[in-house]
Amino acid sequence: MENFEFYVPTKIIFGKKTEEKIGEILKKDGIKKVLFVYGRESIKKIGLYDRVVKALKESGIDFIEHSGVKPNPVLSHTREGIKKAKENKVKAILAVGGGSAIDEGKAIAVGAKTKKDIWKYFKGEEVIETALPIYTILTLAATGSEMNGFAVITNEETKEKLNIASEHIFPRVSILNPELTYTVTSQYQAYAAVDVIAHIIEYYFTCKVCPNLSNRISEGLIKTVMETTEIILKDPKNYKARAEFMWSSTLALNGLTRTGVGGGLFPNHLIAHALGGIYDLPHGACLSIVIPAWMSWYKEENKSQFERFAKEIFGVSSAEDGISALKNWFKKIGAPVSLKEVNISEKEIPEIAEKGYNIAKIWGIENLYSKEVIEEILKKAIK
Ligand code: NZQ
Ligand code: ZN
Repeated sequence: MENFEFYVPTKIIFGKKTEEKIGEILKKDGIKKVLFVYGRESIKKIGLYDRVVKALKESGIDFIEHSGVKPNPVLSHTREGIKKAKENKVKAILAVGGGSAIDEGKAIAVGAKTKKDIWKYFKGEEVIETALPIYTILTLAATGSEMNGFAVITNEETKEKLNIASEHIFPRVSILNPELTYTVTSQYQAYAAVDVIAHIIEYYFTCKVCPNLSNRISEGLIKTVMETTEIILKDPKNYKARAEFMWSSTLALNGLTRTGVGGGLFPNHLIAHALGGIYDLPHGACLSIVIPAWMSWYKEENKSQFERFAKEIFGVSSAEDGISALKNWFKKIGAPVSLKEVNISEKEIPEIAEKGYNIAKIWGIENLYSKEVIEEILKKAIK
């Protein structure tokens, strides 16, 4: 194994009705006023909004609301949240929702503690030194944001979708009640499954050392995600499947699968963020288009891992058959696998590649992912 550091300071509270504890949790931590960040209508529809408000009131926690976070959260709305957090002198962020509400909450947590412009942190021009404490209640299992130090925001003016990464933005506590995900639509469940698999395979295929332990953890997670997704699509209120899917999605991007692997790049996310920034497509849909194309472009670089994946996950023997099987599974669950399906034509590829290359520069991997390379990969995803 390669040397590694593993740091995950988030307390997870998992299970039925756990959201009712949010008031006591904040009170115990001495927090008296929060910015309550959430999306559009889903938390009200499922009755969660009322339960959260009740729990906060019962524990005497004052709160200011910041609602309307959209999927692929945007910079202007984040800036409004930062202004509210500062004006009202909130002591913490409470984000309730999927990755978007949590990510915007994290960005606000950083912005509230600095006079600098928040976008500079996303551009890599400033380093995060502190942030407000972050508490989350997860309603859509996919991104792993509830237990990691990442947040992704889109600058809607420049069409750049960029991320921050810092130990200061790990949530302090995240509440995971699988029942809260019963209403996630089949379409979003499919995108979520793709996203979780993407988080795992980014490391799995770009590893340098590839220890058996990491491989087995990754394969176990992928199999669980596929199995539970198929159950969820038929039976959305299956607690066992929702619970196993939820915990898998958290473990897929909390650093566990990366331990000791060496390497570990995020090329599929790089291209998916370029696509998401320009077209505002769901993150998982961008990934299901990019992944099969990237896999067939990259397979010779780590052939034994691709063959192992084919055998362990799909019981087939060649790297190529493994790639086709994954692509077919994406199709089967209803995720797009080509640019054509989302109405993007070949002539738009250079602009996407340009945006991708800009992300590669911020990530320091522009030598590996030049504009030409990204174009080459995307050309494999046209139809
Ligand atoms: O806006 P509302 O009404 O809340 O509806 C949301 C939204 O329309 C809905 N939803 C959420 N919980 C629901 C529900 N609908 C019914 N029942 C529920 N229980 O689902 C829609 C999508 O929500 P969103 O939060 O956007 O989805 P997701 O969790 O996939 O988050 C996507 C964002 O996270 C970023 C993505 O790029 C994208 O911006 N990512 C964040 C990462 C991180 N912080 O570590 C890593 C990922 O790779 C990813 O980049
Ligand atoms: Zn992702």
